[in-house]
Amino acid sequence: MLNELLQLLGTTIWFILPAYVANSIPVVLGGGTPIDKNKMFSDGRPIFGSGKTIRGFVAGLIAGSVVGVLRGVVEHSPTYFILGFLLALGALVGDLVGSFIKRRLNIPRGGAAPFLDQLGFVVFALFFASPITLPSWEVILTILIVTPIVHLGTNFGAYKLGLKSKPY
Ligand code: CTP
Ligand code: MG
Repeated sequence: MLNELLQLLGTTIWFILPAYVANSIPVVLGGGTPIDKNKMFSDGRPIFGSGKTIRGFVAGLIAGSVVGVLRGVVEHSPTYFILGFLLALGALVGDLVGSFIKRRLNIPRGGAAPFLDQLGFVVFALFFASPITLPSWEVILTILIVTPIVHLGTNFGAYKLGLKSKPY
């Protein structure tokens, strides 16, 4: 039983890793020009906000794709090349959509949006990957349970390391 759960956990993390990497690398390598170039939406509030930068997006996309390439090489399966790219792209686009929604709800940059902050990016990652493959429902369920825990844990770690101004 425990063995099976650990195996499921391993399969899950291994599958979704490009999305996790794409979501966390911008915290370290992001900064500079915001994707929205500081432009406002029709409601007078930022489109995405200054926390979504071009450098963060590109760095996350490259880093997540590299994870996919490494997996493709290790497992001799070129499918992972495209899968890693799609998971990373989906995670970053999902993160952008999340910020767009937060700004429309008048939540400032860095303000908390429970569930959206922790899960939006993986839902988009799965959606982007779906033309290539969808994992089993057990893996999808595990992604939905584990991701908020991993997300809150790594964000707290990044806060403690002084990389983030908010612990969530
Ligand atoms: N980051 C970045 N570019 C991105 C995404 C993130 O540079 N495309 C960096 C920013 O420095 C950002 C940090 O990673 O502040 C943390 O990301 P996130 O928590 O997603 O952004 P928030 O600052 O909390 O902004 P928001 O409220 O829009 O989520
Ligand atoms: Mg945030």
